[in-house]
Amino acid sequence: MKPIAVWGLLVLIPLNLLAAEPAPARQQELIHLLKQDCGSCHGLTLKGGLGPALLPNDLQAKPVDFLAATILDGRPGSAMPPWRGMVNEDEARWLVQRLREGIR
Ligand code: HEC
Repeated sequence: MKPIAVWGLLVLIPLNLLAAEPAPARQQELIHLLKQDCGSCHGLTLKGGLGPALLPNDLQAKPVDFLAATILDGRPGSAMPPWRGMVNEDEARWLVQRLREGIR
């Protein structure tokens, strides 16, 4: 391998890992969205309302990708709307991980 290719890999690999995590300012927007928009159905403290509770115990047994797909595409036939366009796939997964840890 040419040295330049090695340097390319060294730079690209960490960038790739970082891409999965939204930038700090975007993280704040996503938490705001969660409290304002999601909270209107799932409850201000996410204990449930029109939508089910989204507390760590409620989500622990459900796969991250399944829950992220629910956020992106909604649940047809239920009140859960799709958020694709407002959040991307990395952001949906990041939100699920925050929900599973518990939002403070
Ligand atoms: C208009 C009401 C409404 C809004 C707004 C809403 N949801 Fe939902 N959500 C629901 C309902 C109802 C369900 C249950 C769907 C079903 O019957 O399976 C649900 C289900 C879910 C689930 C799956 C829970 C589980 O245990 O399987 C997740 C995760 C979720 N919503 C996240 C979100 C997030 C994140 C937002 C904001 C970006 C949001 N919801 C906004 C109504 C809403």
